Amino acid sequence: MQRHLLLICVAAIMLIIACAVALAASPPSSSVFPVDRDLFKFYPSLMVYEKTKANFTEPETCAGCHQQQYEEWHGSLHSLAFVDPVYQGEMNKAVKAVGKEIGRHCSSCHTPAATVTGEVSGPGLKGLSPVAKAGVSCDVCHSVSSLNHCRTPSKEPENGSLVLRPGEDGKDSPVLVKRGPHKPAEECGGGFHECKQTDFHVKADLCASCHQVYHYDKHYPLEATYLEWKHSPYAQKDIHCQDCHMVDHDTFVKTADSMTKPQRKEYRHYFNGANYLLYFLSAEAAKKSGDKQQSVRLMKQYEMAVKRLQKAAELEITPDYRNGRLAEIKVRVKNIRAGHNLPTSLTNVRQMWLEVRATDEKGKVVIASGSLNKDGSLPSNVRKFNSDGMGSDMHFAIDPWVVTAFSSHETIPPKGFKDAWFGVQVPGGTKQVTIEVKLRYRQADQQVAEKLLKAVPDDINLARDYGVSQIPVLPVVDMISLKKVVAVRQ
Ligand code: HEC
Ligand code: HEC
Ligand code: HEC
Ligand code: HEC
Ligand code: HEC
Repeated sequence: MQRHLLLICVAAIMLIIACAVALAASPPSSSVFPVDRDLFKFYPSLMVYEKTKANFTEPETCAGCHQQQYEEWHGSLHSLAFVDPVYQGEMNKAVKAVGKEIGRHCSSCHTPAATVTGEVSGPGLKGLSPVAKAGVSCDVCHSVSSLNHCRTPSKEPENGSLVLRPGEDGKDSPVLVKRGPHKPAEECGGGFHECKQTDFHVKADLCASCHQVYHYDKHYPLEATYLEWKHSPYAQKDIHCQDCHMVDHDTFVKTADSMTKPQRKEYRHYFNGANYLLYFLSAEAAKKSGDKQQSVRLMKQYEMAVKRLQKAAELEITPDYRNGRLAEIKVRVKNIRAGHNLPTSLTNVRQMWLEVRATDEKGKVVIASGSLNKDGSLPSNVRKFNSDGMGSDMHFAIDPWVVTAFSSHETIPPKGFKDAWFGVQVPGGTKQVTIEVKLRYRQADQQVAEKLLKAVPDDINLARDYGVSQIPVLPVVDMISLKKVVAVRQ
């Protein structure tokens, strides 16, 4: 017995020593994961810049020879990623709350070229070059020479883990090298640039590191679009982000339904998503500034985004009987065409919820759920499908530098579904109940949007630039609705 105890003690002491040695050997780090600071010089951004004498080029120069790609890209959120007033407002708050360092983190995804050259490190637009204002521009994606996805702290793509290399020193003068998916033809680049083929421009890997946003220090996945896709049937069938977001509306629907890739000639530079609000605001700003062409591009994207949202989901209503009498209504929400969870990205900010109303023959309301309150907020008992963020104090939080986990996460997986149940009690003698269900979506809660837009930096004037003097009631898109009459007795 005593010999046993002695052995256990010796083993325990050896374990403690082993742990102490292991701890001493691991590199010191303020974050949860060790970070290779020699590789990631822009940390908390994980972008790497291979600097040569070749500089970044603004989109207007590329447009000279690639007019079509320019027209399509110019109306996209990628072209707005840095000038976006919602982004500028949040960025302003971030730098005030955390300090300058976090600026690199945000701007390496929202204006990568100007971040690695050091031109941009915080909010504000004054005096910046066209390359900086162009956000996620041509020369960002087409200067990506390799990926660092396996060398990040989380060992997944995150926080801009791309390598940017716009060109080479050259013998006499710098040589621009643009990378794309095709085997370069003889005359590729028209004397302006050389061409190189990569294997990742047609894959989700190109999009991954920006569409997988981690907390700048704790590496919690705040936006996990890439990983949601990676673990989905789409990835298994070789359907990548480009196949739904770099094509027109009809082609996206066909891709999602048939699970087959578009044809080569069908690819477009729309990068159309769900943010109809920003397209709309920016179209108004373009109109105000007299740029009619740009406002047309943006309104086209606005319509595409609304249509896309209206193709993403399907509803099903099923009555549930107990002892032969109607007791509950089951509403099933299916994610039929989003290649990731629905909704995705900023799931703790975007809102998607069910509005349900049921009436008996006399018009008496027997279920009412999910109607907006007078102040624009959602009622507390609403059935919603997004996430709630919490900080390290385990309390509710919304800002991306505070949120280090989700306390609830109700998004719907690709080709999957979630069910919501609604109890019904009908007066005696009722024969049937009419149920109306709507799946609704908006970019943010009213109060959150108001706070954010109040924080935009001084050189953006919402009234002057956007014609917004009072924050309007945020528009809601009805993604899909369904009506069904069910019998009260089985
Ligand atoms: C977010 C990344 C991204 C941005 C920004 C971007 N591209 Fe592309 N580009 C791609 C991808 C991905 C492909 C390959 C699409 C495919 O599968 O054919 C591509 C393809 C191309 C091609 C090959 C022909 C074609 O259309 O397939 C050209 C030329 C091109 N892009 C030019 C541009 C120009 C010019 C801009 C800016 C106006 C731009 N790109 C902006 C990602 C990007
Ligand atoms: C890893 C890349 C990445 C980093 C880092 C990043 N973002 Fe973003 N951000 C995105 C992407 C991608 C979206 C688009 C998500 C969507 O609209 O669904 C986005 C969207 C946003 C939006 C919403 C814009 C709108 O018009 O609705 C805001 C605001 C924002 N980011 C602010 C920030 C701030 C502030 C930081 C730094 C604390 C930051 N971002 C860091 C990639 C990033
Ligand atoms: C002087 C004209 C000219 C300019 C300016 C120009 N390109 Fe090109 N580029 C070409 C030609 C010609 C080709 C080959 C034919 C084609 O694909 O359109 C080409 C091909 C490409 C490709 C295709 C690679 C592939 O996989 O097929 C990409 C990507 C590209 N250019 C990006 C850019 C970007 C980004 C810019 C701006 C920084 C730019 N180009 C500026 C003429 C030009
Ligand atoms: C360098 C970082 C970066 C890369 C690479 C990138 N994106 Fe984005 N993307 C962003 C940012 C930042 C935004 C949001 C801009 C905003 O809302 O202010 C965005 C927005 C979008 C949106 C619009 C989202 C919405 O809410 O409407 C789509 C769709 C999209 N990206 C698809 C792609 C695809 C597909 C690829 C790969 C071919 C890609 N992105 C590559 C940074 C990037
Ligand atoms: C099968 C088609 C399909 C594929 C594949 C796909 N998406 Fe989407 N995406 C959609 C649909 C539909 C929506 C609109 C519904 C929603 O917001 O989820 C959307 C929305 C988005 C949004 C805006 C989300 C929001 O609510 O603001 C972003 C950002 C985005 N996708 C990025 C990506 C990226 C990055 C990939 C690859 C990793 C990808 N998508 C793959 C269909 C697809």
